[in-house]
Amino acid sequence: MKIPHVIPYQGSKRKLAPRILAFMPFRKIETFYEPFAGSAAVTLAAAASHKATRYVINDKFKPLAELWKLIVKQPNTLIEEYSHFFNSQLGNEKEYFSDVRELFNQNQSPSALFYLMARCVKNSIRFNSAGEFNQSPDNRRLGMKPEKLKAEVKAASLLLNGKVRIFAEDFRKILRKATPNDFVYMDPPWQGTSGKHDPRYAYHLNLKSLIGELERLNYTNVPYLLSFDGKCGEKSYGKELPQYLALEKVSLNAGRSAQATLLGRNQKTIESLYLSPALVETKKYKV
Ligand SMILES: C[S@@+](CC[C@H](N)C(=O)[O-])C[C@H]1O[C@@H](n2cnc3c(N)ncnc32)[C@H](O)[C@@H]1O
Repeated sequence: MKIPHVIPYQGSKRKLAPRILAFMPFRKIETFYEPFAGSAAVTLAAAASHKATRYVINDKFKPLAELWKLIVKQPNTLIEEYSHFFNSQLGNEKEYFSDVRELFNQNQSPSALFYLMARCVKNSIRFNSAGEFNQSPDNRRLGMKPEKLKAEVKAASLLLNGKVRIFAEDFRKILRKATPNDFVYMDPPWQGTSGKHDPRYAYHLNLKSLIGELERLNYTNVPYLLSFDGKCGEKSYGKELPQYLALEKVSLNAGRSAQATLLGRNQKTIESLYLSPALVETKKYKV
């Protein structure tokens, strides 16, 4: 089945999703959790291949979680509101983008967020230190055409409606109910660990809280996959995780880096995927 692609999101795991899913257990999962969902690319891929009975999409950035609710439960409302933004911008694109950005910073409307994501530079949301959306428009594009959005949103809604619960919580709260019959895929913000302001995310992650949660999941035998650090050319991102977590590391070649290509360099991006002890145990193999 074709996997719907709804939210244009920098850092989306859309291209890697089939390879990430290949590491999941063969048995049917009860609930598939994606606590750092973003564009929920891995959940969409899992649902398209019927990996689980139920799904949980969570992202602490509330307007994004609200956008997921619209996509799944009120696809026509999102299509209508987005079409309004798309058509109203014509002839006055730059100024209109600034107006919608200002509106979004006041009312956090999920369909305004979708318009901003579809129109902004490299589809990369950016925030200032006050938490306001401050990315500029990409003046070469108008954003996703409403007809294209319609097809993708309808497909995503069909796939997930009635099977998914959507939250805007801290990831630890979401994982409290996970059991060994469930499965968790985590893609936390990579560099939100330095304590510095990182404009790519509305919320940042404390590395200690991630490690503490991984320890708890290990203790309760919940199987999980974690995308964490990576390399582009000689540059490494992210920190090593402690040995005592007993994670198996796999390197995935994510292809040429778009950013490096723009700068005239031909560099491969290697992303690391960590397999939890409970997952390695069910697969009965070492990587
Ligand atoms: C790297 S992105 C995930 C991208 C996703 N894998 C995809 O395919 O689009 C990380 C996401 O985690 C969210 N986030 C950051 N801190 C969080 C927290 N403490 N709990 C839950 N979500 C969080 C961010 O808002 C962001 O959307």
